Amino acid sequence: MRTQLSDIQRMKDRDERLVMVTAYDYTSAQLIDRTDIPLILVGDSLGMVIQGNSSTVPVTIDEMVYHTKAVMRGSSKALVVGDLPFLSYTSPEHAIQNAGKLMQIGGCGAVKLEGGVNMAPTVRRLVDLGIPVMGHLGFTPQSVNQIGMRVQGKTVAHARQLLDDALALEAAGAFAIVLELIPAALAKAITARLHIPTIGIGAGVGCDGEVQVWHDILGLYSDHLPRHTKRYADLGSTIEQALNQYAHEVRERSFPTAANSSVIDANTLAEALG
Ligand code: KIV
Ligand code: NA
Repeated sequence: MRTQLSDIQRMKDRDERLVMVTAYDYTSAQLIDRTDIPLILVGDSLGMVIQGNSSTVPVTIDEMVYHTKAVMRGSSKALVVGDLPFLSYTSPEHAIQNAGKLMQIGGCGAVKLEGGVNMAPTVRRLVDLGIPVMGHLGFTPQSVNQIGMRVQGKTVAHARQLLDDALALEAAGAFAIVLELIPAALAKAITARLHIPTIGIGAGVGCDGEVQVWHDILGLYSDHLPRHTKRYADLGSTIEQALNQYAHEVRERSFPTAANSSVIDANTLAEALG
């Protein structure tokens, strides 16, 4: 059975760490299914790591639905959370329509959206309709054109605002909140004031769990590695080596071999070509 919302809350209550990772397709979802990671995020970070954009701003709801469907086909155990992309939740009604697409066509079990106090009425409406909502505060990538790519919550006013935002999301019925790029001590203090779990990324070890982007932790690209992540494998190099070996063997005719090929009866072939 898939991870349920009650499992998530139970993990927080038992002080078990909540592990979440992003996935964007069938194959990676299948790989996650081989582990006991209970939470998958179909993140709009796919705008960057899959589509090659410089931010998540260009991602559309139809693209999110497409990737969510693929992830759902590969995953059988985790709770899959689908991101509502930029400008897909400009009013509660709009959010209902698009969360509906993610859940009914995409098949995921929950949605995530960015924002705090301002989004609370939207969260409340979604939750009232049976749509589990994960919040997302701190560095909210859909607002990168406004806030820049930097750590959030470093002033008194801003730190207090983040706490108010977190409390508003909890009161509105969110089941968890991602805290991205905020100081560790602030994330820890917010976590201590909430009943629902916090899931950090660049927010220190004081959150209830952690979320990381697939491509970051598996070392799938060679660009600059942000401080908030860690490479647990160097799959980029592994893939490069494999591709070079493949190209080499094709060029020198050592692949494919007879074992990779099929046969036809010599007489049949002679007759066909005759
Ligand atoms: O889109 C994403 O991958 C995210 C996580 C970084 C939290 O929102
Ligand atoms: Na996201």
